[in-house]
Amino acid sequence: MSKFFEIKNLKVSIGDKNIISDLNLTLDKGTISTIMGKNGIGKSTLAYAIMGHPLYQTEGEVFLEGTEILSLPVHKRAQTGIFLGFQHPIEVPGVTVVKFLQQAYKALKGNIDYTKFQKSLSEWMEFLNIDKSFLYRYLNEGFSGGEKKKLETLQLLLFNPKLAILDEPDSGLDVDALKIVGQGIKKARENGTTVLLITHYQKLLDFLEVDKVFVLNDGKIAIEGDKSLAETIEKHGYDFVLAKA
Ligand SMILES: Nc1ncnc2c1ncn2[C@@H]1O[C@H](COP(=O)(O)OP(=O)(O)OP(=O)(O)O)[C@@H](O)[C@H]1O
Ligand SMILES: [Mg+2]
Repeated sequence: MSKFFEIKNLKVSIGDKNIISDLNLTLDKGTISTIMGKNGIGKSTLAYAIMGHPLYQTEGEVFLEGTEILSLPVHKRAQTGIFLGFQHPIEVPGVTVVKFLQQAYKALKGNIDYTKFQKSLSEWMEFLNIDKSFLYRYLNEGFSGGEKKKLETLQLLLFNPKLAILDEPDSGLDVDALKIVGQGIKKARENGTTVLLITHYQKLLDFLEVDKVFVLNDGKIAIEGDKSLAETIEKHGYDFVLAKA
């Protein structure tokens, strides 16, 4: 039986700069795993490479439920069931949130039942405590850091992907928003999404039952462990755990 998600010998470069040299990783279905690592080590690069950002050249193989995805264009990867929640969500003036969500939903699912969509949208907005007025604002334009992260979480719940790569969904959140986003990620897992979470902090992990912790360093997964690894990093820092690897 093929694994749910598998990265084999992945190499990622931007121009002539190599960021990821030989990365291997597997995720089991229905789990929450986290990728940690120092600033600038390549976590977002990995996320972009999996999603298919055109700036990043890749070698190696990435499989979702046995389908090799590196050869697919971005929209096909999304239709296969991969979602990326951005570290820095992009502002798109001129496109309202509601229009964006409808178009994205339609493109992902092939069709849209507007009554069902509207009901689901309202429920998730209430769950995340997002005011209805946000629907008619331009996408992320003038949104606070926390508001942007909540909108990424709304997409996660609405689109219900097979695999969600969430790049620092906890950065810039106040304590209440952190709890809400944490509950959103938990809900996504309950609804069948496997989660690969990029984070620097222990706080979000406290809300979630994290199955695996990966530490990215020097272009590859340097250490793999359980939740206690994240706790050690929080206490002693990266150099401490990396020295023992
Ligand atoms: N478009 C680009 N052009 C040149 N260098 C880039 C580009 N994008 C990323 N890099 C470089 O690649 C390296 C990895 O960056 P990346 O954003 O993946 O780090 P990160 O692990 O996500 O860091 P952080 O924890 O700060 O978010 C950095 O040195 C960064 O400057
Ligand atoms: Mg990053």
